[in-house]
Amino acid sequence: MIPGIVIIALVFYLFLSFDLYHFIIFLFCSLLLSSLFSFYAYRKRDRDIKQIKKVIENIRLNSFSAADKISLSNNLSELESEIKSMFLKIQNDIAQMKKLEEVRTEFLGNVSHELRTPIFAIQGFIETLLDGAIDDKEINRVFLEKANKHTINLNSLLNDLIDISMIESGQMLMSFRYFTAFEFLDEIIQEFIPRAEEKNLKLIFEPVNRHIKIYGDKQRLKQALNNLIMNAIKYTDSGSVSVGVKEEEKVCRIFVKDTGFGIPGNDIKRIFERFYRVDRDRSREMGGTGLGLAIVKHIVEAHGFNVEVKSELGNGSEFSFCLKK
Ligand SMILES: Nc1ncnc2c1ncn2[C@@H]1O[C@H](COP(=O)(O)OP(=O)(O)OP(=O)(O)O)[C@@H](O)[C@H]1O
Ligand SMILES: [Mg+2]
Repeated sequence: MIPGIVIIALVFYLFLSFDLYHFIIFLFCSLLLSSLFSFYAYRKRDRDIKQIKKVIENIRLNSFSAADKISLSNNLSELESEIKSMFLKIQNDIAQMKKLEEVRTEFLGNVSHELRTPIFAIQGFIETLLDGAIDDKEINRVFLEKANKHTINLNSLLNDLIDISMIESGQMLMSFRYFTAFEFLDEIIQEFIPRAEEKNLKLIFEPVNRHIKIYGDKQRLKQALNNLIMNAIKYTDSGSVSVGVKEEEKVCRIFVKDTGFGIPGNDIKRIFERFYRVDRDRSREMGGTGLGLAIVKHIVEAHGFNVEVKSELGNGSEFSFCLKK
């Protein structure tokens, strides 16, 4: 600013016939005014900076209970609203992190609990065998078979956990392509016939247009359907399990329907949560850990659709989801 004032004074002096005396007075007054102005501007800027520093410090010390408690002077209103939105975002991020931490702790608690059950059981059978039961021909085989059943459960729990962590960390690689719905479902259903027969259940493959092609990751969809059909068989004591495809305008809806226990209304919205089981003991007895539907949900969502459930306690259930055709 000062060089500018000197140049203006020189212009006046050279071109507007200022004498040296007036030039010096003009220069002096201008410099004085500009120094006063600079001093005022500096003080104001200093006050503003202090105010901003205080607000930032209070945010750091968590002293603001809400965004509207943050205030700066009028000339800083734009900055004030920026700081307010930054404050809201930080608060939101912290709340999200706390929630994630809670979910993680709960998940770890569930995992340890679920791991402990089969490990304790296996340990118990082995100890009993070592304490002498191994020589008792009546029970040694039974104990070994029970221990073996628990190792199978343990293995399937670990596989489910690996799948869940791969899916949730975004590491699950998907490979989408078109394939024939009929062949795909037929192959899966054939594998379940022995299980359905064991429980005297009819496993029905509803008539399907043999030419319909659906789009998705065949291997992952097979994993999802395996769990849905397995659930339908597990949670049905008499009647049937039907699997089929309904053609809609742009999509195909694949459904698995059973005449089983059904699910109480309040539980329907929770069955997709990890480790959630309507009847914990019954499900655990059947080797379930409550991760199956969480995996199904992730797989179907990765295809851009949602799983729908229609169920009534005592009146069976129908799980379905759409796929692009
Ligand atoms: N077809 C069904 N009929 C009745 N209840 C069902 C059905 N499918 C799921 N459920 C209920 O939802 C719960 C969660 O199902 P999910 O498949 O996630 O777990 P799970 O079958 O217990 O164990 P797993 O991890 O081995 O699949 C089950 O424990 C069961 O209570
Ligand atoms: Mg299941």
